[in-house]
Amino acid sequence: MQSVINSIRERAVKYNKRIALPETDCDRTLQAAMKAHEAKLAEIVLVGSRKYVETRAKHLELDLMALEIMDPEDEDVRKTCAATYYEARKAKGLTEEEAYESVVDPLFCAAALLKQGNVDGSVAGRIHSTADVLRALLRIVGTKDGCKTVSSCFIMATPQRSLGRNGMFIFADGGVVPQPTAEQLADIAISTAESAKLYFEVEPRIAMLSFSTKGSAGHPDVEKVVEATKLAQQRRPDLLIEGELQADAAIIPEIAEAKCPGDRLAGRANVLIFPDLDAGNIAYKLVQRLTGGEAYGPLVQGLAKPGLDLSRGATADEIVNVIAIAALRAGSGI
Ligand SMILES: CC(C)(COP(=O)(O)OP(=O)(O)OC[C@H]1O[C@@H](n2cnc3c(N)ncnc32)[C@H](O)[C@@H]1OP(=O)(O)O)[C@@H](O)C(=O)NCCC(=O)NCCS
Repeated sequence: MQSVINSIRERAVKYNKRIALPETDCDRTLQAAMKAHEAKLAEIVLVGSRKYVETRAKHLELDLMALEIMDPEDEDVRKTCAATYYEARKAKGLTEEEAYESVVDPLFCAAALLKQGNVDGSVAGRIHSTADVLRALLRIVGTKDGCKTVSSCFIMATPQRSLGRNGMFIFADGGVVPQPTAEQLADIAISTAESAKLYFEVEPRIAMLSFSTKGSAGHPDVEKVVEATKLAQQRRPDLLIEGELQADAAIIPEIAEAKCPGDRLAGRANVLIFPDLDAGNIAYKLVQRLTGGEAYGPLVQGLAKPGLDLSRGATADEIVNVIAIAALRAGSGI
């Protein structure tokens, strides 16, 4: 895992992107902001109360005033962000007054700054739920062209070095879409393939997982995965996407040979797409706990611009790494 994270950090530095941190009332975030600034991973923009940041800077003995601060209560910031939010949602019935009230929330203010291009990425979720973080981004930033679904992936590192990419995999979706349709599952597969290319710097080998391997079982849930596989293959013939496959046929060459001879993945998948959030979320936690492996995520994907979520227990160093991921995604236009 460390080699992947180091590579992400090294590449992020080169882009020098502006990353917003809208959770300034979290000390860990403030510590991470300073570390990311010192490591030159990105230009940090703190989105929150300037007075509060000043107070915490003294208490934490951090030179936070060296960072840019955008206070959602500054009238200029509030007005421009309200206008951005209103433009994005007026067709859905949002009024100008509602937009003005909402953007005083730093999550909405940061999403508006991201939409405007004032910042290139945003990282939050240390003290807010995934749902809160994503709602602001979904309403203001929206999805990227050609993709209607925001989802998330996990970078998984296991001790089974002979499997995946030296024991590493990308799992999706473990954090966002509870019961994806076939179209959404195809979106998740394509977004995850792009994420895998970016994080691993190898060609993604994508398995669409099911309890059936190439017709071994019949059920509407299997048909959904078959349909999703077809849609993803049609949309991206350049990607190696196979399904429907059981997990063992996806990652163990001998089992692939026995269960689905001729399958193009040949038991060497490095990207695993789960049929729903139950499966994806349970799988990543079990693999992490039972193998003594590591799980890094949820890493949000599919937005028009990078808005990344954090796990509630994230350490300052983990926040720094997610800032690097946001900067790398912004720099690569993913
Ligand atoms: C992501 C999530 C917050 C969206 O919730 P929601 O209540 O649908 O949010 P909103 O109603 O504010 O949605 C805003 C818009 O985004 C759309 N949207 C919702 N989820 C979306 C997704 N995954 N991708 C793209 N668009 C999405 C909605 O359809 C809505 O569209 P509109 O323009 O027609 O209004 C919700 O799916 C969720 O809570 N997921 C699980 C997250 C979670 O708890 N994870 C924990 C496991 S780690």
